[in-house]
Amino acid sequence: MRSLQQCGGRFKRWLIVLVLAPVILVVEASGFITGFAAAASPSSTLNTKAFLEQHWQRPIPAQGNAPEHYSDLESSLSPQACGTCHAEQLADWKTSLHSRAMGPGLMGQLVEMSPHARGEHQSCIRCHAPLAEQADLLVDEIANGYSPLSEQLAKDPTQTKDLHRQGLVCAACHVRGNQRFGPKRKDGTIPSAEQTLPHNGWTASDAFEDSQFCAACHQFEPNEFSLNGKLLENTYNEWKQSQYAEEGIHCQNCHMPDRKHQWKGIHDPEMVRQGVTIDTTAGNLDDNLLQAQMVMTNTGTGHRFPTYVTPQVVMMGYQENARGEQITGTESYFVVARRVPLNLSHEVFDTRLAPGESAQLDYQMTRHPQASNIVMKIYVEPDKFYEGFYLSMLQSGQTGRGAQMLQEALTQAQQSVFTLYEKRLALP
Ligand code: HEC
Ligand code: HEC
Ligand code: HEC
Ligand code: HEC
Ligand code: HEC
Repeated sequence: MRSLQQCGGRFKRWLIVLVLAPVILVVEASGFITGFAAAASPSSTLNTKAFLEQHWQRPIPAQGNAPEHYSDLESSLSPQACGTCHAEQLADWKTSLHSRAMGPGLMGQLVEMSPHARGEHQSCIRCHAPLAEQADLLVDEIANGYSPLSEQLAKDPTQTKDLHRQGLVCAACHVRGNQRFGPKRKDGTIPSAEQTLPHNGWTASDAFEDSQFCAACHQFEPNEFSLNGKLLENTYNEWKQSQYAEEGIHCQNCHMPDRKHQWKGIHDPEMVRQGVTIDTTAGNLDDNLLQAQMVMTNTGTGHRFPTYVTPQVVMMGYQENARGEQITGTESYFVVARRVPLNLSHEVFDTRLAPGESAQLDYQMTRHPQASNIVMKIYVEPDKFYEGFYLSMLQSGQTGRGAQMLQEALTQAQQSVFTLYEKRLALP
């Protein structure tokens, strides 16, 4: 069973709770998926669908006691412990948004909840920090406040005092019942039964190389929240309908090239540039009526560009004077986004680009006497929806302990804006 809630925040959550009365998931951490885990010998490869159904049960059952022969490093769920042996994955993961999935935008909302409302916590942390051990630490922080780690504790890679704040940690994707799960080695081999490896080696599953692995958090179930006939989170289905699925190009091929743990996306200018092709053509520049055209095509994004309701991509043309200043009143825009209001009551428009689709801005405007260039530009606001959302929460006066964190999240959201493309057409 799954909660019907999704991303966003308090009034979104209330709205959906009221309207749809979701089944809240408070399942006590119980014993690990026994039959399955025991049956899977470390050298076997597991069926993808069956594996993922077990693997992404939420909440993820508590790991229980580690085998006695495990060292402290092997027993620890902390990313820093994994990183003592898997240094490259740790360094990359730290740069990713998965490692920041419990940043101030999340924590600012979670600390406003009751510490006992575990079902409510789950409606967010089942994607943002899904381990049972993280759920317990979150309860503790909401009840008793957060005290920063002592210098000595911060140096200990095995400590897990702030595991909940570390977001989508290694163990959430790789560890169940203290056992490691991962893909086959790059050369296609798996550990043999005789091989003695740290943490008892690992169980290989092809699921790690399949888009369905990511769907656990990047795709809503058919019965979850939708607007205008489209699920609010639909990335896997968008991919499934594209030529990439046909060609066997999975999420990992684009987001984890060479198995890198960076998961670059809409917040990364280079990644976004790889996903689209942009062309500007000058029309008539001699006349009083100026004309130019800019076309942006989704040529390398394996789903809609962008896939979520939260970013906004703005195509813009304007005239500029000899000092390089934008001349007010000469602007023309086309917005590529799936726009929804903060309360998610309806879909305002959806101009996102499916793979192969293009958006076009036709610039046509009387020449301003001071104009010396036309500028054709595209900028990306990765956190557009959240910006409005944080602002409205702060202005509502209903925030308590979370206010400072939401303020921080607002600043971060505002700073995430970047220019994707810019071209100047000189006027004669
Ligand atoms: C003491 C060192 C050590 C620690 C600590 C450690 N590992 Fe490993 N891990 C290894 C070694 C060695 C292998 C085997 C690599 C091989 O044989 O290809 C391995 C294999 C793996 C694999 C399989 C790699 C593959 O090719 O599919 C995964 C996944 C994994 N570890 C995850 C983790 C996670 C997650 C943690 C922390 C919770 C962790 N490990 C902690 C040493 C360690
Ligand atoms: C347990 C849930 C979970 C799983 C599994 C998961 N993700 Fe994520 N992913 C998230 C969350 C939550 C965020 C947002 C983090 C934040 O910014 O707070 C995210 C963010 C991202 C982003 C960054 C988006 C941006 O705005 O730039 C990319 C790219 C991404 N994930 C790709 C993947 C891929 C590919 C996989 C499969 C290999 C995957 N994710 C598996 C939960 C998950
Ligand atoms: C089905 C998985 C899922 C659930 C459940 C979920 N989120 Fe998210 N969340 C994501 C993904 C994926 C992203 C990144 C893409 C985006 O920005 O929309 C994200 C991004 C965010 C962000 C912006 C990035 C950041 O870290 O500040 C906030 C805030 C957020 N979620 C809050 C929540 C809250 C509050 C809840 C519970 C009501 C929740 N989410 C439930 C998957 C989820
Ligand atoms: C969002 C889920 C997710 C998180 C979080 C995550 N991994 Fe992975 N990991 C994967 C997937 C998926 C693959 C396989 C990628 C592929 O085959 O393209 C993988 C592969 C690996 C491998 C095998 C690498 C190789 O070159 O063969 C190791 C080792 C590993 N991960 C360790 C870690 C460690 C350590 C962390 C934390 C610092 C971590 N992972 C965090 C999903 C995750
Ligand atoms: C053919 C390459 C490709 C494939 C396949 C692909 N992506 Fe992406 N993805 C991109 C590019 C490029 C971007 C940056 C442009 C953008 O944000 O849409 C991106 C952006 C994202 C983002 C950022 C948020 C947003 O609104 O765009 C998320 C999350 C994401 N991808 C998840 C996934 C998941 C999950 C899958 C598999 C179901 C997947 N991607 C498959 C190339 C790909």
